[in-house]
Amino acid sequence: MSLLEVRNISYRFPDGTFALRNISLQISEGEFIVISGRNGSGKTVFLRNLNGLYTPSSGEIIINGVSVKDNPYKARQSVGLVFQDADSQIVGQTVSRDIAFGLENLKIQKYETKTRIRKALETMDLEDHADQRARTLSGGEKRRLTIAGVVAMNPSIIALDEPFSNLDYPGVLQVLKILVSLKKSGHTIILVTHDLDKVLAYADRLVLFENGAIVADDRPELAIHSAAACGVRVQNPGSKDHNIKEMTWLND
Ligand SMILES: Nc1ncnc2c1ncn2[C@@H]1O[C@H](COP(=O)(O)OP(=O)(O)O)[C@@H](O)[C@H]1O
Ligand SMILES: [Mg+2]
Repeated sequence: MSLLEVRNISYRFPDGTFALRNISLQISEGEFIVISGRNGSGKTVFLRNLNGLYTPSSGEIIINGVSVKDNPYKARQSVGLVFQDADSQIVGQTVSRDIAFGLENLKIQKYETKTRIRKALETMDLEDHADQRARTLSGGEKRRLTIAGVVAMNPSIIALDEPFSNLDYPGVLQVLKILVSLKKSGHTIILVTHDLDKVLAYADRLVLFENGAIVADDRPELAIHSAAACGVRVQNPGSKDHNIKEMTWLND
């Protein structure tokens, strides 16, 4: 059984905009999926449907055998979503308090909360910032804090919306390293980005969105041939042999 099963979902905003059209997708445990597509193609709306922030107008989403519609609370626990805009996700005054906030909502015991915060700070290289005011963090540190908050909640799936946006070069490398280590430790990851060059080397699958629909869902070396037509930048779009393994900014 798939960890996540999306069955024919569509999503329509009250103003009539059809943001998703008949999307179906299955994700197995431990997969690393990259989703790409031009601005406005429906990527963010899709992630918001996955964790129950939005409810599909039709179709259904099953996570771990449970329907999101029947149990949106469970869905929010199962799919941890890292927003594109870190500032809108940070709610705690300090770094530690921010991570604690999500755990308190899940009613995690105090002792367990402390352990999880320590581990999240360590994994995201934020130990030295534990008591710093969250709003005084740099852009890269804020991004790592939002990932820390989500990872600490131990979701089945971690979904990240454009996690490289507004980061400088070292910031991108740090987030990439975190993604690679999350993958290595067996996490299931859905990553939305238009920067395939940074991360595609680590993807098991590339899914391309166009106008609210999925137009490609395949191994990266196959799906990449459809990327340019979906408004996603690829080097030498006409080339037959894209070297997917070189599509990373990490050189180890
Ligand atoms: N709150 C909203 N009301 C109406 N339309 C929206 C709203 N949010 C997003 N949209 C529309 O839904 C479509 C998909 O948007 P989105 O998922 O944000 O695209 P992206 O692929 O860039 O993340 C776009 O046409 C966008 O204009
Ligand atoms: Mg978006």
